[in-house]
Amino acid sequence: MKVKISRRATFNAAHRLHNKNWSEEKNKLFFGKCNNPHYHGHNYTLIVSVLGDINEDSGYVIDISYLKKIIEDKIIDYLDHKNLNLEVVEFQELNPTLENIIKVIYDKLRKELSNEFTLSIILYETENNFAEINETV
Ligand code: NI
Repeated sequence: MKVKISRRATFNAAHRLHNKNWSEEKNKLFFGKCNNPHYHGHNYTLIVSVLGDINEDSGYVIDISYLKKIIEDKIIDYLDHKNLNLEVVEFQELNPTLENIIKVIYDKLRKELSNEFTLSIILYETENNFAEINETV
């Protein structure tokens, strides 16, 4: 039997949704308020879950303080209080939608965690809007 261990973290960031290949009009129509040229912010909540076996010696699936440190060092320090479009290299060309932000976060975390763990992450952009990447799906 495997156990899933989760850690929650929050950050805030500004962004603008925009496709440079579309006209200003089409961008405004499609992305609405999210196309505001002066940017807007969100308080993001990230939940990172690691599914694995309980280690017989430690009794842990993963040392949650290690998981906490990875999330802080690789994600929170990298994204918190940033303008995603202007300051985060991944979003120089990539539209910082909820979908693309969670994908960037997933790629960074996946590199840090052993393949013995099955990773799933949830990212809330607002209280009601959230995305999930789950390796078991
Ligand atoms: Ni937004």
